[in-house]
Amino acid sequence: MCGIIGYTGNENPVSFLIKGLKQLEYRGYDSAGIAVFSDNGTHIVRAVGPVRNLEHKVSKLSLQGFSGIGHTRWATHGKVTEGNSHPHQAGRITLVHNGIIENYSELKEQIEQIGRTLKSETDTEVLAHLIDIEVEKGFLLLEAITRVIPKLRGSYAFVVSDPEDPRCLIGVSQGIPLWVGNSNGNMLLSSDSRGLSLFTNEGFVLKSAEIVQCRPGSFQVFDFSGHLTTKNISLTQLSNDSSELVGFEHYMMKEIYEQPLAVLNTKAKLIQSAQLYSLPFKLWDHVQLMGCGSARHAGLVAKHYFEQIVGVTATVDYASEFSDCFNHTQPSTLVILISQSGETADTLSALRAAKNRGLATLSITNRKQSSLSLESDFCLFTEAGCEISVASTKAFTSQVSLLLALAYEWSYQIERVESSFRPQLNPYLSALPEQIAQTLQRDKQIRFIAEKLLSSRSFFFLGRGVLFNVAQECALKLKEISYCFAEAYPAGELKHGPLALIDKDSTVILLTTRGSTGDSVSDPLTHLQQDKMKNTLQEVKSRGAFIWTWGADTPYFRQESHEFPPLPSSHRFTEPILHTVLGQLFAYHLAHLKGAEIDKPRNLAKSVTVE
Ligand code: AGP
Repeated sequence: MCGIIGYTGNENPVSFLIKGLKQLEYRGYDSAGIAVFSDNGTHIVRAVGPVRNLEHKVSKLSLQGFSGIGHTRWATHGKVTEGNSHPHQAGRITLVHNGIIENYSELKEQIEQIGRTLKSETDTEVLAHLIDIEVEKGFLLLEAITRVIPKLRGSYAFVVSDPEDPRCLIGVSQGIPLWVGNSNGNMLLSSDSRGLSLFTNEGFVLKSAEIVQCRPGSFQVFDFSGHLTTKNISLTQLSNDSSELVGFEHYMMKEIYEQPLAVLNTKAKLIQSAQLYSLPFKLWDHVQLMGCGSARHAGLVAKHYFEQIVGVTATVDYASEFSDCFNHTQPSTLVILISQSGETADTLSALRAAKNRGLATLSITNRKQSSLSLESDFCLFTEAGCEISVASTKAFTSQVSLLLALAYEWSYQIERVESSFRPQLNPYLSALPEQIAQTLQRDKQIRFIAEKLLSSRSFFFLGRGVLFNVAQECALKLKEISYCFAEAYPAGELKHGPLALIDKDSTVILLTTRGSTGDSVSDPLTHLQQDKMKNTLQEVKSRGAFIWTWGADTPYFRQESHEFPPLPSSHRFTEPILHTVLGQLFAYHLAHLKGAEIDKPRNLAKSVTVE
């Protein structure tokens, strides 16, 4: 996903553009650029790499203008080069774009056939040419845009300027949001509310198939036919939650430490939300959980909650595989879509496919006014605060805790008699923020162990039941920020092949249950789980692997493991969150010790708004 910023007002646009781009940089950071519009024409500056590289180039220029646009890029079409960076220009037209013009190659052929040549490999430049062709025919910019839109296929948001009218910016949204805000007469456009929150505390988001025309101190909204819309604009209060590092070296560690509060706020707001108690639970007897990456992992953990606490069946699908996911879905299915950003294209496609089949849709997201929250039948919000680091941490644990509370409420509302475990689970639900805080106290020990594992060539996270799903999330965290080989396997599955990979350079992390009571062996399920994990431990130890056991606090595991960070006593439903915190800390420290980027890993973006 990319970040777009636009400004038109009474001050010099450059500082607004650079500050706004820094707020949006988490969305994509391959390259960045700005264009400034004045009576002297258009001045474009672009740079590969982080926004600070662009800022350095701009600082050597004394750019002045009436308006400007900026962009941070996560490359979808074309290599990471300055030439492919936005803004792109064609004739009079300069624009920045987020999303994909899916039919750009046929459009590119059409403009090349009339003698135009492209300077870049991007779909964005094709869009600029299409609009320039129309303004060359004499159409004003707004009309030129409405003539081009019917030719486009895909989801996109773009902001465009024509130096014939340098104080005017036009923003377009089709399936990808574009926020609009007014800061003392300075009009701002941004890909998300974060880009506005430095300058104003309220704004609104363009819905799909809308155009906004901005001039200093004013705006007008049109539909794709160019007709002025008369809809009332509902302003959203922008959360300017502190997105500073406040002493942490990286956002990821800040967000790891924010988890107790994130989980507490999520639960507190959920209890206050009428949405939870008005859900028609009795209509549903199956849950289909869908998401991408960590969001899908939260669904994998929650599957256990819905099946064991509510007594409904539950399945988990990759949102990107949505086209094959609804062939046998019954009308009594609730489709739960999980997404931190609420803008992940694959998850939005899954939502729309579910709705097309008349299925009930509930979204779990961290972003209000996100496309997912606006298009779902029902929506419950995590209250994790803005998550900047690409590796999801507090959003994931907030999603899991919200889904646990949802399953708990569902079982209560259908008066499921088997919910006799409620008295046992309640204290652990209330203690969860504190238990996360206790787990964070392992931070230094985890760093010490990570130092010992710097030379390890492969990492295997093994677990049984829900702890295998947590192992999947831990492996993803390690992969995406340390770039190490990491794999998660069901512990019982290792001996059926993957054991061949284990050698003296392997690290095996055993996620074991401690059970729902302090005395872990009193619970038969715990006892069985731990016995099975002992077999796995011996299988890998005899191959020379480094054994690191998380969870079970018994003399055997202490004695047989090379390292052992005990976890607080918890419940088997809240334990997955505590294991996850250990995995986050380990991924962070190993990556940091290896000198990795941490918050902006190579090739990744915070939310992937293209399929
Ligand atoms: C998580 O650490 C990754 N950055 C990635 O898997 C992420 O969870 C996935 O892209 C889904 O994003 P979303 O929650 O915003 O939909």
